[in-house]
Amino acid sequence: MTRSSELAQRGIGRRQLLGGCLAASSMAAVGCTARAPGTSMHSAEASTTMPRPFPSGFAWGVATSAFQIEGSLTSDGRTASIWDTYTADKAHVADRSNATVACDHYRRWEADLDLMKQLGLGSYRFSIAWPRIVPANDRRINSAGLAFYDRLVDGLVARGITPVATLFHWDLPQYLQDAGGWENRDSAGWFADYAQAVFAKLGDRVGSWATINETKIIVQMGYQQGTMAPGQRDARVSGRVMHHLNLAHGRAVQAFRASGAVGRIGPCFAVAPCYPADASVPPEVVDGIDLQENRLYLDPLLRGGYPTKLDRLDPGFVAGLNSAVRPEDAAVIAGKVDFVGLTYYSPAIVGSTGPVQRYPVASNHWQQIFPQGLYDVLTRLHREYDDPSIVVLENGVPDDSGEDPVNDQRRIEFLRSHLVAAQQAVADGARLTGYHAWSLLDNFEWAQGYTQRYGLVRVDFDTQSRTRKASAAWYAKVIAANAVTV
Ligand code: FCB
Repeated sequence: MTRSSELAQRGIGRRQLLGGCLAASSMAAVGCTARAPGTSMHSAEASTTMPRPFPSGFAWGVATSAFQIEGSLTSDGRTASIWDTYTADKAHVADRSNATVACDHYRRWEADLDLMKQLGLGSYRFSIAWPRIVPANDRRINSAGLAFYDRLVDGLVARGITPVATLFHWDLPQYLQDAGGWENRDSAGWFADYAQAVFAKLGDRVGSWATINETKIIVQMGYQQGTMAPGQRDARVSGRVMHHLNLAHGRAVQAFRASGAVGRIGPCFAVAPCYPADASVPPEVVDGIDLQENRLYLDPLLRGGYPTKLDRLDPGFVAGLNSAVRPEDAAVIAGKVDFVGLTYYSPAIVGSTGPVQRYPVASNHWQQIFPQGLYDVLTRLHREYDDPSIVVLENGVPDDSGEDPVNDQRRIEFLRSHLVAAQQAVADGARLTGYHAWSLLDNFEWAQGYTQRYGLVRVDFDTQSRTRKASAAWYAKVIAANAVTV
C-alpha cells in the first residue's frame, strides 16, 4: 500500500484517536487563503468586546436525530433499522447500551417542543426515521409513522419554530440493508420514493430539508473503519456506497422539485478543514486529505462532478466508485440545491506520518477544538463554491465539566468561540443564514452510547427528567440579542 493510500485509509477525520502533538508553526488551510490563523479573524476578536450582530432573520436552532432521541423503536409499526441491528450486539457500543428508550422523545415530544420555545429557538433540525415511514419490503407507506412527524411539524409551527427535516440520518431500514443497502444502485430509487411520501405529507410546512446526513461519515465509519452501522470494512464497497448516496441525494432533490413543496432543500456535509502540521508536510499530502475529507463530497454536488485526480485515494475505493458511476448520474447528483448544509466539529491536522493533535481535544477523543476552522470552511464555500446560501446544521461538543453537570462552562466557551468565527465569516462575505447547536438533549451517541453528553439540556436517563444547563440559558440570550458577545 502506498503512503497516500495508507493515509487515505486511515481516515484522518473524526472519531479517531489522535496521537502526537506538534508545536504550532506555519499553517494554511488547503483551499483557503494563505493567511495563517490569528490574522483577520483573531485581530477583529481582540479589537472589541461589543456584541457581534448576526443578520436579521438569522435562524437560531438546535439539531437532533431520530434514532438518537426517539426511543419507541417498535411503536406504531416501526421496524428495525441497521442501527437497531448494530447496537443489538452490545460489543459495538461503549457502555453496552442501546437506543430502545433514548430520550423517550417519541412520547415526550410536546414537552420537548415547549423547552425549545422557552429557549426562543427559531429553527429545529430533526430527522425522520425511514423505518417508521416505509417499514416493510412491500413499500407500503405507514400512515401511523407519518402521523408522528405531522404532529411534530404542527407543534413546531404552532410555537413559531421553523421545522428543518433531515430525510436520512443513518437509520436505514434493515430490510433494505438485506437487499444490499447503499451498495445496491436501487437504493437511490428507494430513497426517492420514501422522500416523495414525506414531501407529500409535510411539504406544505417544513421550511428546509436536508437530504442525507454526512455521507462521508457513513462511508468512512460504516464501510471503511466498520465502527458504525453497518460495520463493514471494504474499500471497494465504500466507493460504491458513496456514489449511490450521492445519487440518492440527487433523486430526492428531483422528487422535491416535482412535489410542489414550499421549502428549501440541500445536502448536509461533514466538513473538516485540513492544515499541514508543519512546513515539512508536502502540500500534495494535505491536498490528498482535503480531497478525502471535503472535495470528494462537495464537488459532485456543487461543481458537477468528482475531482478527476484521485490517485491519492485507496485504489479499492476508486475502483468501487468507478464501477458505480454511469455517465447520466453527474447531472442528477448536481441538481441545483437551495442551500449548503454543513456540520463542523474538528479540523484535520495533517502530519507527515499521519494525523496530528494540535488543539485541545474534547472528551470524545476525536474532536480538536479549533473555531477558526469554521471561519475557514464558511469563507472557502463563499470563495470556491459559488457563494452558496449556507446553514450550519450541527456544531457542538460533549460536556466534560465534571462536578456540576449542568454548569457546562466549557460548552459555552465552545459555542461562543464558534459563533464569533461564524459571525466574522458573515462579515467577510459568507452567506450564512442559520446555525444549529448539536444538540438540544443529551442523547444516544451512536457507538458511544450514553457516555457523551452533547445537550444544552441535561437528560437523566433513569427518570427522563430534563434540566436546562448553563449553556441553554446562555444560548437563549444570544438568540434574544441576535448577537454573540465576546
Ligand atoms: C455528527 C452526527 C450526530 C452526532 C454528532 C456528535 O456527526 O451527525 O448525529 O453524532 O456527530
